[in-house]
Amino acid sequence: MEEVQYLDWNNSIQILNKAFEAGLFVLIIGPKGTGKTSLVRDFAQSKNMNLQSINFSLRTRESHLVGSKTLTDGTVTFDEGVLIKSMREGNTLYLDEINAAEADVLLRLDEALDDRRQIVLKESTGELIKAKENWFVIGTINPLTHSGTKELPPQILSRFPVRIRLEYPPEDIELEIVKKHVSGKHESEIIQAIKLANTLRQAAAVEELFYSPSLRETIAFAKLLDKGMSSKDAAKFVFGNVYTQWGNIEYQKVSDIITSMFGN
Ligand SMILES: Nc1ncnc2c1ncn2[C@@H]1O[C@H](COP(=O)(O)OP(=O)(O)O)[C@@H](O)[C@H]1O
Ligand SMILES: [Mg+2]
Repeated sequence: MEEVQYLDWNNSIQILNKAFEAGLFVLIIGPKGTGKTSLVRDFAQSKNMNLQSINFSLRTRESHLVGSKTLTDGTVTFDEGVLIKSMREGNTLYLDEINAAEADVLLRLDEALDDRRQIVLKESTGELIKAKENWFVIGTINPLTHSGTKELPPQILSRFPVRIRLEYPPEDIELEIVKKHVSGKHESEIIQAIKLANTLRQAAAVEELFYSPSLRETIAFAKLLDKGMSSKDAAKFVFGNVYTQWGNIEYQKVSDIITSMFGN
């Protein structure tokens, strides 16, 4: 994938910089596709820091964070996980969708995130790992309204005292972001698509629809136009068809909106 420069439309990089300098960990809260991962990548790059990442799910185990024993050529070695690696190297650890993690995993994480910034490697030698000076942790969570998300225990929340809210951007900013990803033609159609996305987002916010399109969709729409697709088709394939998952009534509701905006 091509690298697209992150557009820092709400000064998030500055907040990350201040938090980093103050040694405070950061939680980014926002729905999917609002640029959380891009923001963190851009920040790490600007700091010339290596980024260790983990994307949490119900299947994430402590061993993914801490590490596990492996047998190679008859000897048992310990393969350190992302948490230990990032602590040793003193770089940035990116904990994506941390509220999808199970309680026992969070508990182990909490050990490292507390003010002493250290963890006992009980799985291996029992060594006490102390994080290097510049160790920095950024977590993300989806708002609780999103299905499948759990509430983060207050104790874990308190380890991230700086909280950045990342919402869908205002229309003109979204247009600017989308244009970073495509050739720059089709501006009026892209504006229409952003309006459509915002209509669907608002309906999803009040639970009239089950799905809220992200910046990924408005960017995908623009890319299809770049490849010669009509805006009506692109709207159908990117924004409309997904709603058939929730049945014909839901789909028809969105189809009517698309027809009214992009024609028959
Ligand atoms: N501010 C921005 N500047 C440039 N691209 C952005 C910006 N915000 C979102 N994007 C693009 O939108 C898409 C989704 O962003 P991503 O960082 O993956 O979101 P999230 O991690 O919140 O799900 C990516 O293609 C990303 O490049
Ligand atoms: Mg992401």
